Order: sequence, then structure tokens, then C-alpha cells
Amino acid sequence: EPSPIIAPSILAADFAHLADAVHDIEGAADWVHVDVMDNHFVPNLTLGLPVVQSLRKATVIPFDVHLMITDPERWAPGYAEAGAYNVTFHAEACENPVALAKTLRAAGAKAGLAIDRDTPVEPYLELLPYVDTLLIMTIKAGFGGQKFMPEMLEKVRDVRRRIRAKNLEVRLEVDGGISADTIEQAAEAGADAFVAGTAVYGAADPAEAVRKLKALAER
Ligand code: DX5
Ligand code: ZN
Repeated sequence: EPSPIIAPSILAADFAHLADAVHDIEGAADWVHVDVMDNHFVPNLTLGLPVVQSLRKATVIPFDVHLMITDPERWAPGYAEAGAYNVTFHAEACENPVALAKTLRAAGAKAGLAIDRDTPVEPYLELLPYVDTLLIMTIKAGFGGQKFMPEMLEKVRDVRRRIRAKNLEVRLEVDGGISADTIEQAAEAGADAFVAGTAVYGAADPAEAVRKLKALAER
């Protein structure tokens, strides 16, 4: 299996100094995770396309954009065009995930499908050949700093089984409450990409926190 990816979430960083926050983890992290929330799909509001466009120019680290928005068909391609490496939209918000994934790939990005806490993964397993990333929420989407839900690991196991059975090249990402205390069980269940907000930006040395998480995820 490919080596684990650590994607620090700037949701837990100081929004007045986003470029500094990204520079803090450059070299240590593989991707930077950008949480876009619209106060509609989730009851919280963060940032959007203009911020991503500006931040893109400030760093070379790949952007892992997580769209917690309604109507992703309207907005997701703009993030691909802005240079995002991976653009993930929510299954609950999308009528035709395969079509949107195709659009994102045509725009030069990897396509990700996210499954929120209350959504079963089973109906989406057959879509795995059409996406590059499958994101399993290990909390309810909307806020950083929540407690990791080990119950979600059953979904991770199901997805990993299917990826193996079909020999697919899909990143299996987990998001929510990932820390030094929880990352090993997520890796054990089969995740190979890990979002961490509080565990990275709440640490005195964010780059060192990333390196620690990576070491724990490598098995
Ligand atoms: C929440 C976001 C997460 C969040 C994770 O809906 O999708 O990416 O930043 O934060 P922590 O790591 O603090 O749970
Ligand atoms: Zn996220």
C-alpha cells in the first residue's frame, strides 16, 4: 500500500495568518486540508474560492479541498481550476457523484467523495472506481475539535476491503478527531490519508506533530 498521507487542516489555524500556517507544515506534511463550509450544508461558515485562490499562490504544497457545501456541482470545478490537487464533495449534497468526479478530473484535479457520520457507505462502494479519494468522516462534519468516533472505522474497513478486492487506486481518508491517540486504529482499519486539525495546529510545533502522526500511521 502507498505510504500514509498527513493533511493538516487549517481550520484549526489562525485565519489571520493562513500563509504562515501553511509554511509551518510545508516539508513535513503531504497535503494541506482546506475545509470549505457554507452555513447551509453544515451550520458553520469558513472560507471560499477567493481565499483558496490567494493561498494557492503562497505555497507549493498540494491542496486537499473538502467542500462541506450544498450544490457542489456549481462550485467544485472552480477549486480545481484554482489549482487544488484534490477536490472532495459530499455524497449527501450531490445528485450525480460520478458526473461531478468526471468534471473535476477533466479540470485537472483528483476527485474525492465524502461520507458524513450518519451516512452508510455501502451504497457508495460501487462508485469507488470513479473517484480518487474516499473520505470517511470520523465525526459529524461542521466543526473542528470534536471527539473521534471509533464506530466509523467499520466503514473504513468496508471501503478498504472493496479497494483491495477490486485492486483500485483510491486514497482512503479519515477526517475528525485524528490525533496521536487515534491515528493508529484508523490506519489499522485501512485508512491511508489522515486529516488532523487540532492535533497539528494545537501543538507547539506543528511540523513535529505532523512527523509524529506520520510515524504512527506507518505500519
Ligand atoms: C470538520 C472538518 C475537519 C476538521 C478536523 O468538519 O472537516 O477537517 O478540521 O478537525 P480536528 O482534527 O480538530 O477534528
Ligand atoms: Zn475536513
